[in-house]
Amino acid sequence: MAQDLNGKVVIITGASSGIGAAAARMLAERGCKLCLAARSVEKMESIAAAAASEALVIRADMTQPADIQNMVDRTLERFGRIDVMFANAGIFIHGEFSENDINDISDMLRINVEAVMRCAQAVIPAMKAQGAGDIIVTSSVAGHEKLHRGPAYGASKHAVETFVNALRRQVSEDGIRVMSLAPARVANELWNLTDADEIEKVSVGDQHYLKVEDVVEAAIFMLTRPRRVTIRNLVIIAKQQDV
Ligand SMILES: NC(=O)c1ccc[n+]([C@@H]2O[C@H](COP(=O)([O-])OP(=O)(O)OC[C@H]3O[C@@H](n4cnc5c(N)ncnc54)[C@H](OP(=O)(O)O)[C@@H]3O)[C@@H](O)[C@H]2O)c1
Repeated sequence: MAQDLNGKVVIITGASSGIGAAAARMLAERGCKLCLAARSVEKMESIAAAAASEALVIRADMTQPADIQNMVDRTLERFGRIDVMFANAGIFIHGEFSENDINDISDMLRINVEAVMRCAQAVIPAMKAQGAGDIIVTSSVAGHEKLHRGPAYGASKHAVETFVNALRRQVSEDGIRVMSLAPARVANELWNLTDADEIEKVSVGDQHYLKVEDVVEAAIFMLTRPRRVTIRNLVIIAKQQDV
């Protein structure tokens, strides 16, 4: 039987824009209680104010381990449990690797890889005690293919895929599912696409980009499978994207 998300407590990292902001809106519509985490507090406050459900806003910089622990502790204090960790925050550095600033690459690895691991490790004790929980990570098609646009970004997402696949086997006996959702291009802030007409044109018109809603619907599909089923890796691509 499909799982009902009503009343589930969900932490969303990277909740201030793009996929995370859409997840906040769409999971609130399904009755989830939310912890929205990112650095842009004002943006998250307006998302929380418009949300159809209770939403706690936490400033958390994914490069700061104490912020990640604080995000988890405050969610447990407020809601008493954590059903879903949606480790979604990430940045995209592309272009010629030889010209990338290696310190920016280092930050990207901390956000895209290390923070995902810290988020997972911080919620596993509560999920084990509950006997259930879901960890879902926003990966990328770049974690499945060797795309030439961003070698280090692709490496970060391949790392996430390996982490998800291996961690899943360590915690499955505890009732915890670990999953990765890997979109190709999504029309949102990451590509500086914010105009609704432009987003419609590149997604529904040209079909070269997904919409954020397509990605969140896939996440909801994964989260609502019966608990005996894990959608371990899901790749989602706009119909006309050549990847
Ligand atoms: N858009 C695409 O084409 C695409 C395709 C495949 C995969 N993805 C993945 O999707 C995920 C979400 O990205 P998006 O597409 O929604 O892009 P986005 O709109 O740029 O959102 C990125 C989110 O990550 C947060 N973030 C960045 N640095 C952070 C830090 N140091 N600490 C905390 N939060 C941080 C941002 O919040 P603050 O700046 O407020 O902190 C923002 O909420 C990423 O993991 C990305 O790799 C995106």
